[in-house]
Amino acid sequence: MSLFHHLKLTVTLFGLCLASVAIADLQRFEHPTKADGSLSVMVIGDWGRRGTHNQSEVALQMGKTAEKLDTDFIISTGDNFYEDGLTDVHDAAFDESFTNIYTAPSLQKQWYAVLGNHDYRSNALAQLSPVLTKRDSRWLCMRSFILNAEIVEFFFVDTTPFRDKYFQEDHTYDWRGVLPRKDYLSNLLKDVDSALRESTATWKIVVGHHTMRSAGIHGDTIELVAKLLPILQANNVDLYINGHDHCLEHISSPDSPLQFLTSGGGSKAWRGKVKGWNPKEMKFYYDGQGFMTLQITQNEVGVQFYDIVGNVLHKWSVTKSVYASI
Ligand SMILES: *[C@@H]1O[C@H](CO)[C@@H](O)[C@H](O)[C@H]1NC(C)=O
Repeated sequence: MSLFHHLKLTVTLFGLCLASVAIADLQRFEHPTKADGSLSVMVIGDWGRRGTHNQSEVALQMGKTAEKLDTDFIISTGDNFYEDGLTDVHDAAFDESFTNIYTAPSLQKQWYAVLGNHDYRSNALAQLSPVLTKRDSRWLCMRSFILNAEIVEFFFVDTTPFRDKYFQEDHTYDWRGVLPRKDYLSNLLKDVDSALRESTATWKIVVGHHTMRSAGIHGDTIELVAKLLPILQANNVDLYINGHDHCLEHISSPDSPLQFLTSGGGSKAWRGKVKGWNPKEMKFYYDGQGFMTLQITQNEVGVQFYDIVGNVLHKWSVTKSVYASI
């Protein structure tokens, strides 16, 4: 074989290999449970406004609640930095809206974040950069990834590229890494589907920025209802958690155990427009600021929503008997 052919073969193999790595797997992270096998998680969304619009008040209450519950980690459902994400990895908004706001000792835990539509304006790659983790070691933001926490597996999904209108609007969205869009979305759906199918965790929780079911101003995200929802239902996902609508909300499914939980009350709220909804499915809606917690054990997931003075506004739980190999 000539050197040329040899090189060409190597390049081709290398190319195939790269392609299969990119397609086959979502990056995985592990987070241990507490010694008793339980897990306490806090969920916040739509927050980064340099402390304004009650962001600091929410943060203060998160700190108190996280201390009481001994929160293990914090999930951000996206729209981390308003209005237009970060300009670059040195953007002062990262300190002003994150590091200098969530200062309580109980919040000095790992944060797992996804990108919201506002984060995709200006420089989407900045929030994904390890430089930010150097600036604040709590920070981990990725487009789509899996977090295994023994009794529960979280599947973080990049929902912004699903939305047709962002590809039609005049806003400047940073689509680096997302184009060609059709391939990006079909690979992502395939990855999420196979990861869910292979999961042996008792609880499966999917996290994205955009709503699937919501009575808020944005309402349902039709692209996710069409493309992602059937995958969640087919794989017995327990919870879909999102932000985007600046409210706290719990909607149940008419035809499956899947629950839709919105935690988008991290700062600006009080939109004042709530759509009518079937009261059998609408378990809870709060138009103001606040956050959500999950208390997870092998047999039970408890969900609680809090306002900015620490009132528990809504409480819900689900149990599962575990016949798994003991
Ligand atoms: C801050 O929260 C309080 C209590 O919920 C509310 O009355 C007030 O309108 C909020 N302020 C803003 C700017 O949202």
